Amino acid sequence: MKRLDQQVAIVTGAGRGIGKAIASHYAREGAKVVIAELDKSLGESLARELNNTAAEALFVKTDIRQFADIADLCTKTQQHFGSIDILVNNAATTKSLDFFDITEADWEWIYSVGAKGLFFCMQRVGAVMKAQGHGRIINIASIAGKGYPATSNIAYAGAKGAVIAMTRIAASTLAADNINVNAICPGVTRTELYYEVVKGKIKTLGKSEAEIIELFDGSIPIKRSNEPEDIADLAVFLASKEARNVTGQSWNVDGGLVCD
Ligand SMILES: NC(=O)c1ccc[n+]([C@@H]2O[C@H](COP(=O)([O-])OP(=O)(O)OC[C@H]3O[C@@H](n4cnc5c(N)ncnc54)[C@H](O)[C@@H]3O)[C@@H](O)[C@H]2O)c1
Repeated sequence: MKRLDQQVAIVTGAGRGIGKAIASHYAREGAKVVIAELDKSLGESLARELNNTAAEALFVKTDIRQFADIADLCTKTQQHFGSIDILVNNAATTKSLDFFDITEADWEWIYSVGAKGLFFCMQRVGAVMKAQGHGRIINIASIAGKGYPATSNIAYAGAKGAVIAMTRIAASTLAADNINVNAICPGVTRTELYYEVVKGKIKTLGKSEAEIIELFDGSIPIKRSNEPEDIADLAVFLASKEARNVTGQSWNVDGGLVCD
């Protein structure tokens, strides 16, 4: 028996990076996976890849900034698979920005996906889970949300702090309905987003790529940055029955950068 046999899991932003690793690990563990992704070609490609194995996957083109898309995602998931057992709120956006250069448009872009979209996914899917009498919600935050300063920008850190706070409040609100809510706070993780932030820092700090990577990775106590799979392994545990009494926590996966 696999660890997530027959569980139905929605993963937002699953087209690449950490979300893709989580969707793939879930599929390997027997879950039916819904890829809720803005980028059609990334989403379709992962659905094809997973459906070519023993897994069942469904791509639903979703922009989590749009209420109508979130409602459509829930309807299509229920129609196709019959329930929603797990929600992984992974989608977020950021870029490298100096403190003094952040504009209102940057702020709205970052918060509309990473905080607002994430909350309304929790609210809409939480209602389905409440009616079912069970559920697991896993929010992908960041150590930036705990004040780790070597991040892409301060607005992103604030949005991730909001995710950590909302995780605690959602956990206490939904506990009586048998819904566990936890956050994972990745540190430096080698995805496309990471390399985009590195490129931005080359410009803002006037350093070479090697120097920026050394800045990010050199300070990690365990001397190893994450692969997306490091986050996916914890996401499997938090969705599994072994984590049935774990809720309201924010778990760092960062090689020891932030200890709390
Ligand atoms: N990579 C890191 O170093 C790192 C560190 C800490 C936290 N995180 C967090 O991990 C999560 C995944 O990061 P990643 O590095 O894999 O990012 P990524 O940019 O590589 O992937 C994000 C995915 O989300 C999708 N997406 C963007 N906006 C969307 C929207 N409105 N609706 C639906 N999908 C949307 C993108 O198309 C993309 O496929 C994010 O929450 C990020 O903040 C990443």
